[in-house]
Amino acid sequence: MPLHFNILTLFPNMFPGCLGASLAGKALERGDWSFSCTNIRDFGEGVHKCVDDTPYGGGAGMVMRADVLEKALLSTNDSGSRRIYLSPRGQQLKQPLVKELAASPSLTLLCGRYEGVDERFLQAHEFEEISIGDYVLSGGEPAALILMDACIRLLDGVMGNVNTADNESFGSGANGLLEYPHYTRPAVWTDANGSEHGVPEVLTSGNHAKIDEWRAEQSKIITKVRRPDLL
Ligand code: ADE
Repeated sequence: MPLHFNILTLFPNMFPGCLGASLAGKALERGDWSFSCTNIRDFGEGVHKCVDDTPYGGGAGMVMRADVLEKALLSTNDSGSRRIYLSPRGQQLKQPLVKELAASPSLTLLCGRYEGVDERFLQAHEFEEISIGDYVLSGGEPAALILMDACIRLLDGVMGNVNTADNESFGSGANGLLEYPHYTRPAVWTDANGSEHGVPEVLTSGNHAKIDEWRAEQSKIITKVRRPDLL
């Protein structure tokens, strides 16, 4: 099913950005997904097309106005669309949520700038907040692109012949573990310092049961060391 992204932003030229290249770009050309950008600035107030104002209660930064944002939102056709505000305050984006989002027909993505947006707008129009991680970006646009990329690669046909079962977990390892290490030719690689590096013997044994076992073990070890929280 094609997926539509209805994007509200002050920087429409950031889209499709990196998603215009590679597999996502080809999928866009095929019509597997589509997007539209609404420039919030077009709905700004006065000759200066003002979209923000100082926060009630004082403090640093500017807040995007509810009335401006509402005009921008209502100018779009977002019926049946899940409404998402990209914000470091939101629920963290993880693969199960990505799967859920990728199954929606349409996502409305609000990209904020400045200190934030008027809370009343988010509540009145039932936006859910999603964060891509515990760090602060200068705006929601890169976060929207990341969310979009994670959804697009799950759409039917986008990843070509890559095993779709891999999409069930994250890191494409089995059962939500991190992925085992990969190797390809040459079998012995000599690095720039003259050191030789071989490949784990089991991988060239042709014994697929043993290879599966080794990979599962490696996944467990790497997960235990790097992300014990996943176990
Ligand atoms: N906007 C700024 N920082 C963000 C983050 N970490 N996730 C989503 N949107 C953001």
